[in-house]
Amino acid sequence: MQQRLEEIYKKIETKLEAECGRMGDKIPYIPENGVYPDMRERNISFWTNGFWAGMLWQMYSAEKKEIYKETARRTEAALDKALEQFTNLHHDVGFQFLHTAVADYRLTGREEAKVRGLHAATLLAGRFNPIGNYIRAWNVVNGGFEAKNQNRAGWMIIDCLMNIPLLYWAGEELDDPRFACIADQHAHTALKTMLRGDGSCNHIAIVDPATGEFLETSGGQGYGVGSSWSRGQAWAVYGFALAYMHTGKTEYLDAAKQVAHYFIANIASTGYVSVVDFRAPKEPFMWDTTATACAACGMLQIAEMVPELEKSLYYDAAEKMLMALAEDHCCWNPEEDGILKNGTVAYHREADEIEVPIIYGDYFFVEGILRLRKQGFMIW
Ligand code: GLY
Repeated sequence: MQQRLEEIYKKIETKLEAECGRMGDKIPYIPENGVYPDMRERNISFWTNGFWAGMLWQMYSAEKKEIYKETARRTEAALDKALEQFTNLHHDVGFQFLHTAVADYRLTGREEAKVRGLHAATLLAGRFNPIGNYIRAWNVVNGGFEAKNQNRAGWMIIDCLMNIPLLYWAGEELDDPRFACIADQHAHTALKTMLRGDGSCNHIAIVDPATGEFLETSGGQGYGVGSSWSRGQAWAVYGFALAYMHTGKTEYLDAAKQVAHYFIANIASTGYVSVVDFRAPKEPFMWDTTATACAACGMLQIAEMVPELEKSLYYDAAEKMLMALAEDHCCWNPEEDGILKNGTVAYHREADEIEVPIIYGDYFFVEGILRLRKQGFMIW
């Protein structure tokens, strides 16, 4: 296993050094004909814009090569425009700024990076609704997979569990308990409204923003209402594990374990790689490798926090998942952008967002491999 891991790691290094060499200031998302377009031109506020830098900070932490640091800082500087524009940002500032400014600050102590991170954390805290005890997910947007121009003030989504670590960081940095309080209230509401009895999770929960009354769970990026979007399950595995890591509350660890068991049961028949929705018709068949990579990282985190006799369940599953990805779902050609193939943005999407490399797939794959090498940097 160790030798296999070393081979994979070497290929990651070759690939990322080649990508760094040609990326310049570009921010990647999904490559087109093997080449990343530049998200600075398409949408500087897009939720995935931190993952490239996050992956490079992971590598910098492991290798201390300047190229990773310098390239990551280019994205960090570019995201100042998103902070200035402000109105296009939403709860995903966690993904965007933990992976850029906060990672920079944690690894190098750079003061301007800390300030960026605190701006983002303040924005996230400002989205908290104290009536329903949740962090509002999206803004009113003119498009997307749900009704247009909908008031989304009462919407919370499972993905946000991965954003709230920004609040734990800010609270510690400022020695101000309000940030952790907001994060914990949100995680508790997510647990109550989104975790189902069978260990799966809803993607979206909607409450009345004026009364806090729970209204409904809605479909989201999966097949439909009541289905089981695999990346949503992955956000829950890792997100609840992180909520436990930050609070020590066993209700979150139990939730993370339940969703992990559900995830493992649902990938057993597909070679330890996830399809896009575990409760969708068998056809059309669509992989989502990004869910596999993210859930594997969550399981490795759980393995670090449970008693010795429980560890192997989570560790072994994660290892099998990451090895299956490395074996059958990676593009190792250094001339082509993107490592992890077969990521899917959402169930109901056009072909150019189905079974393609997506930057967050690469991020979680690299984090997972570094974790297996005991070199992971805790970015969350
Ligand atoms: N957070 C949005 C997604 O997972 O696609």
